[in-house]
Amino acid sequence: MKGTSNTFNAFSSLIIIIIMTFLGLCLVARSQLTADFYVKTCPNVAKIVRRGVQSAMRNEMRMGGSLIRLHFHDCFVNGCDASLLLDGSGGEKFAAPNLNSARGFEVIDAIKSSVESECSGVVSCADILAIAARDSVVLSGGPTWKVLLGRRDGLVANQAGANSSLPSPFDTLEVIINKFVNVGLNVTDVVSLSGSHTFGFARCATFSNRLFNFNQTGSQDVTLESTMASELQRLCPQVNGDVNKIAPLDRNSVDLFDNHYFKNLIDNKGLLGSDQILYSSETAATTTRSLVEIYSNDVNLFFTDFVNSMIKMADISPLTGSAGEIRKNCRVAN
Ligand code: HEM
Ligand SMILES: *[C@@H]1O[C@H](CO)[C@@H](O)[C@H](O)[C@H]1NC(C)=O
Ligand SMILES: *[C@@H]1O[C@H](CO)[C@@H](O)[C@H](O)[C@H]1NC(C)=O
Ligand SMILES: *[C@@H]1O[C@H](CO)[C@@H](O)[C@H](O)[C@H]1NC(C)=O
Repeated sequence: MKGTSNTFNAFSSLIIIIIMTFLGLCLVARSQLTADFYVKTCPNVAKIVRRGVQSAMRNEMRMGGSLIRLHFHDCFVNGCDASLLLDGSGGEKFAAPNLNSARGFEVIDAIKSSVESECSGVVSCADILAIAARDSVVLSGGPTWKVLLGRRDGLVANQAGANSSLPSPFDTLEVIINKFVNVGLNVTDVVSLSGSHTFGFARCATFSNRLFNFNQTGSQDVTLESTMASELQRLCPQVNGDVNKIAPLDRNSVDLFDNHYFKNLIDNKGLLGSDQILYSSETAATTTRSLVEIYSNDVNLFFTDFVNSMIKMADISPLTGSAGEIRKNCRVAN
């Protein structure tokens, strides 16, 4: 009897250890960020950020798009650690995808200084970017969500990482999908997050390759609608053009966060090559095309998926606990 009981005890202890280990692994794998991270230490942080984004967008509606893009370009390089915001010649700001392109740094500075004057040394620049990204969507008519918080700021920038990890408008769909997979995102995230191109603008430099001699064909990209192509050719002439002239990413509802971006793709009216290939490329047929069609018909599903993908993107390798620091000035490590 005693023997059986001992065996039973050993067996049940083993089971308990296995269960605890499994639960522990689940906890480690799950995000350490929380929605109420600043509830005690900076209870008004959400209001302060909202006010800053609102005032910037009142001044220039486009700033909404610019701010969400800062968060995206931050998260894809060294995780969401505000590394993009660091000044200096080796900074991510000078990497190819950001140079003459990433904007809104002064808006983040202004918000950071308002936050510092209410609760000094408490709120990270990485968290401010995440809240500002959400607010820019809400203030443009898109969905809202609870932003998970508790990120800390990185100490170094990674210019080489910004050059190689950020998707380019000239990438193939395979390459874009790979760049998302490399940071833990999937095909659904590629399509839903590309829906951010429902607002904001792009420079001629990023799409003029489609207008005159696309892929050495001697003519425009056949997946670009011809009236739109003519307009863009006038904006971005082949000779003596200004590569910094801009066109709206969603010409149908320029500043509004809606699902018109996806309807555009079905009409061959995507602005960037990287937009149109989500619908038109051969790879799209087995990966992204069906989702483009679904989102174009169902704004609610687009919003639901977009929110889930934003939360996933905002959780790429955050620094937590005592890693990194809370920067005083978003442009320099303390
Ligand atoms: C899927 C791969 C993506 C590619 C290849 C891409 C590429 C680009 C390019 C080339 C521009 C124009 C930049 C310029 O003119 O200098 C742009 C703008 C923009 N992108 Fe993306 N992007 C991608 C995904 C995303 C994601 C995931 C988001 C947000 C979550 C995003 C948000 C934006 C916004 C809002 C703008 C307009 C910014 C402004 O007006 O200042 N993009 N993107
Ligand atoms: C990143 O790209 C830019 C622009 O093409 C280039 O000047 C810079 O040297 C690159 N940086 C690194 C570290 O590869
Ligand atoms: C992408 O990941 C989400 C969960 O994060 C999941 O619901 C979705 O089905 C995945 N999509 C694909 C195409 O694997
Ligand atoms: C460009 O042309 C090459 C060779 O003709 C072809 O294999 C490739 O698919 C084309 N790329 C695009 C984006 O049309």
